Amino acid sequence: MVEHFHTAQGVDVSGRFAAQKPPGVYYALLGNDMTKLTDKIIVNKSNGVGWIILNQPDKKNAISFEMWEAIPHITEQFSEDDDVRVVILRGQGGQAFSSGADISQFEEKRSSKSTTDRYNMTVKAAVAALDQLAKPLIAMIQGYCLGGGASVAIHCDIRIAADNAVFAIPAARLGLAYRWEDIYPLVQLIGPSFTRELLYTGSRFNAKEAIQMGLVNRVVPVAELESYVTEYAASIAANAPLTIHSANRTVAEALKDPEQRDLAEIETLVAQCFDSDDYREGRQAFSEKRKPGFKGH
Ligand code: COA
Repeated sequence: MVEHFHTAQGVDVSGRFAAQKPPGVYYALLGNDMTKLTDKIIVNKSNGVGWIILNQPDKKNAISFEMWEAIPHITEQFSEDDDVRVVILRGQGGQAFSSGADISQFEEKRSSKSTTDRYNMTVKAAVAALDQLAKPLIAMIQGYCLGGGASVAIHCDIRIAADNAVFAIPAARLGLAYRWEDIYPLVQLIGPSFTRELLYTGSRFNAKEAIQMGLVNRVVPVAELESYVTEYAASIAANAPLTIHSANRTVAEALKDPEQRDLAEIETLVAQCFDSDDYREGRQAFSEKRKPGFKGH
């Protein structure tokens, strides 16, 4: 289990061990070992928002094996951190959200059956961790959003794109295949026809086309993307956390197969909201014509 973070910006999310490690490297305490995971993901938090920044700009933020491995540790930490109410996932620099899996590693890490199985299991765990993060997860998409990068965005709760965003799933141009856990959520999101178009053609689609497909929630001018997404996240962070959590889990259950849904959990979460101090605060603030101050209990 991960207990502590050190980020590439020199911020120790846990507040501990900061003196022991240099900035620029992402660490987590796994069991008793301080393990370097990767320096290619920056983790940060401020004002109730956790940031996950894919940090390989010289390769348009291609996602390396180590980055896939690190993602579940990061989402676990954010899940457990009460100071984090919303998470934003973005790419470093202005050119790309992500160009997909790091192809330069495929020969070594994704060419034989055994290495491919391990690689694919690692990617599967990473996207499952994004699905399981019980907090709103927003993809902030600038520039290229390709292949595995598009898959990461699809596993976020909400996608906000700049008007310079470019989307493609070029698997058919490389000869690799997408797994069930990549294609099924895409079909759920944009339907079978657009999914087929993306996968059969491998072509690039611009932000306007992406919004028409339902691939992104919103498109904003590139110069406004960061401020727009930050304010958007802040407005969610100011809302009642238990209500957000209940909505987050309810939609997650709705996306599962019917026999796998835990509707009892949803009942419990709804009951918690109606029995919460925040619900009392919401009613009082409404009658006093002021903004509510929610505490998450
Ligand atoms: N994996 C590894 N390296 C990548 C990469 C990826 N997915 N995408 C880009 N890069 C590298 C390029 O090889 C290049 O490296 P170099 O400077 O050592 O030559 C560098 O990033 C810059 O890319 P370049 O192609 O020169 O930039 P561009 O602006 O002309 O094009 C892309 C950018 C993203 C459109 C293009 O690089 C591309 O098509 N990448 C592959 C995307 C893909 O197939 N993704 C699916 C992976 S499953």
